[in-house]
Amino acid sequence: MTTVLVLNGPNLGRLGSREPDVYGSGTLDDLRGLLEGEASGLTIDLRQTDDEATLIGWLHEAVDTGSPVILNPAAFTHYSYALRDAAALVTKAGLLLVEVHISNPHAREEFRHTSVISAVATGVIAGFGFDSYLLALDLVARRLG
Ligand code: DQA
Repeated sequence: MTTVLVLNGPNLGRLGSREPDVYGSGTLDDLRGLLEGEASGLTIDLRQTDDEATLIGWLHEAVDTGSPVILNPAAFTHYSYALRDAAALVTKAGLLLVEVHISNPHAREEFRHTSVISAVATGVIAGFGFDSYLLALDLVARRLG
């Protein structure tokens, strides 16, 4: 069974209480439950870290295990060239990497309008709350199927 790595960057562990007007009131556990409910035939491995090196290590792991990735890089989106280089390793290996955002960064502060990840991602889904992840999972399932 294929495992989909659902990787979440800094401050996303605070979902539920973090700026609910922007990110909604659901927690990461709620998100895990939603994804598992839609996973049909795929295993969901949802993780979160505030640490850049850990997130990079998980992308290396995706390359080594041949796992598709759904990645919410959170604030690292906007400036982490190291994370971008790791994301490029995933897509250059021929694996799917879908960049997702809960909010629509383009409708927010100017610094959020730049993603250093998008150019090396397979594609980007943003602005649909937790549905951004569900849409990404649907895409991964269809591409793998
Ligand atoms: C985010 C958007 C980023 O700008 C922000 O730093 C986050 C969350 C989103 O999911 O909407 O932490 O990636």
